[in-house]
Amino acid sequence: MWVQRLLGRSTGELRLCRQISARIVNESNVEVRPEKESKPLTFPGVWLRDNCLCEECFHGSSKSRKLDWDKFDTRIRPVSLQTDELAQEVSVKWSDAHESRFSLGWLKDRSFEGRRQEEYLREFYRPATRHWAGAEFQQVAQHFSYEEVMSKDSVLMQWLQSLAVYGVALLRGAPLDEGVVRRLAERVGFIRRTTYGEEFVVQAKPGAQNFAYLSLPLPLHTDLPYYEYKPSVNILHCVVQTESPGGSNMLVDGFHIADILRRDHPADFERLCRVVVDWNDIGSEDGREFHNIWRAPVICLDAAGRYTRVNHSVPQRDSHFNVPLEEVLPWYESYARFVRLAIADSHAFKTRPGDVLTFNNIRLLHGRTGYDDSEASPRYIVGAYLDWDIIYSRLRVLKKRLKPGCQ
Ligand code: OGA
Ligand code: ZN
Ligand code: ZN
Repeated sequence: MWVQRLLGRSTGELRLCRQISARIVNESNVEVRPEKESKPLTFPGVWLRDNCLCEECFHGSSKSRKLDWDKFDTRIRPVSLQTDELAQEVSVKWSDAHESRFSLGWLKDRSFEGRRQEEYLREFYRPATRHWAGAEFQQVAQHFSYEEVMSKDSVLMQWLQSLAVYGVALLRGAPLDEGVVRRLAERVGFIRRTTYGEEFVVQAKPGAQNFAYLSLPLPLHTDLPYYEYKPSVNILHCVVQTESPGGSNMLVDGFHIADILRRDHPADFERLCRVVVDWNDIGSEDGREFHNIWRAPVICLDAAGRYTRVNHSVPQRDSHFNVPLEEVLPWYESYARFVRLAIADSHAFKTRPGDVLTFNNIRLLHGRTGYDDSEASPRYIVGAYLDWDIIYSRLRVLKKRLKPGCQ
C-alpha cells in the first residue's frame, strides 16, 4: 500500500495530493515515488538499514558507518513507512525496532536504477576513457595555460578531466625553473616518490643508471613497469629543449592498440592478457641498491574485461621468464605484433621550453627520439609523477563544488 502523508499524522490517513509516496514491496524492499507520476525507485531494505544515517549508526563528522555489524541482521524487514512532504523525507520503522530517516535527495543520488548507476560511474567515479589513434593526437591532446591551471579551479578541473579521458594533456607557458613539477603536483595533491626520487632530471648523464638518461633513442615504454603500484601520471617539464634534430616525445594510446588487437588478432590479445611477464630494474640510486620485480601481463583487465593498464618496456623486461616452455614463442609473436602496431601508430612532437607534458603512464606508451647532446645544444627535462587516487579525488572534490548535481 502506498503511504502518503505528513509525518506525525495518524497512520490511516492517506493524502493522495501529496507528492512523495512510499510502500513496502515483498516485505523487504522500500519503493519510493519521488513525485506523483514519477517512476518509483526501489531500495532493498537490508541496504537501507545498513545505511541508516542516525547518530547511533553513522558518525557524522567522519562520514562513516559505525553500525555494529557483528549484530547486523541481513533479514531485517521494514515494518512501516512514513513520508514527510515538507522535509522531503521517508522514515522507516524496522523489525529490530530501530527507526531511520532518509532524505529524498540522498535516496535519488543512490538509486539502483541502471542508468543512474552508469552515469555515476562514468561521470563521478572515474571519467570514461576515450581511446584514440595516433592520427587524432592533435584533436585529443588539449592545451591549457599553466598559469590558469595554477590559479583557476575550473581550469584545474578541465586539465584533470582531459587527462582522465584521453590520457594526455599539455600545459603551456610554465616558468623555466625546476620547481614547476612540484608546484603542479602540489596543486593537485602531492608528488609520488619512486626509486628515482620525487623530482628527477632527464638529461644525458655519464655512467647513466637508467636507460632514459642517455641521448640515445628511448623506445616506447611504460615507466616503472616493475612496480606493483606504478606511478600513474608522468609530468615532464621541458626547461631546455635540444636544438639538434630529435629529442621529440612519442606517444601512443596503449588502450587503442589493445582495441585493435582484440578486434583483429584475438588470440594475440588473449595471450597478452594472460601470460604474466617479469618486469625488473636493478641498480642503485644515492648509494642505495635496489632490485625491483613485478609480474604482470602486457594488457591488464578488470573483472568486467575493461583495461586497467598496459605494460611495455624493452630494457626493463627481466631475463627471468617464469612461464611454461610452450608459452614462450607464441608470447614473443603476440608481443612483437603489439609493439609493432604501437610503433606504427605513435605520434611524435617536440616540446618547447615552458611546456609541461602530462600523460597516463599506465595507459599510454611513451618514448623519445635520439638527439645530439652537446654543451652547445643541451636538453633538460624535469619530471615527477602523480597517482590516480590523488587525481581522481581532487577531480571529484572540484566537481562537487563546481558542477553540483554531477555526483
Ligand atoms: C623517461 C622518459 C622522456 C624524455 O625518462 O622515462 O620517457 O622526454 N623521458 O626524455
Ligand atoms: Zn540508525
Ligand atoms: Zn619514460
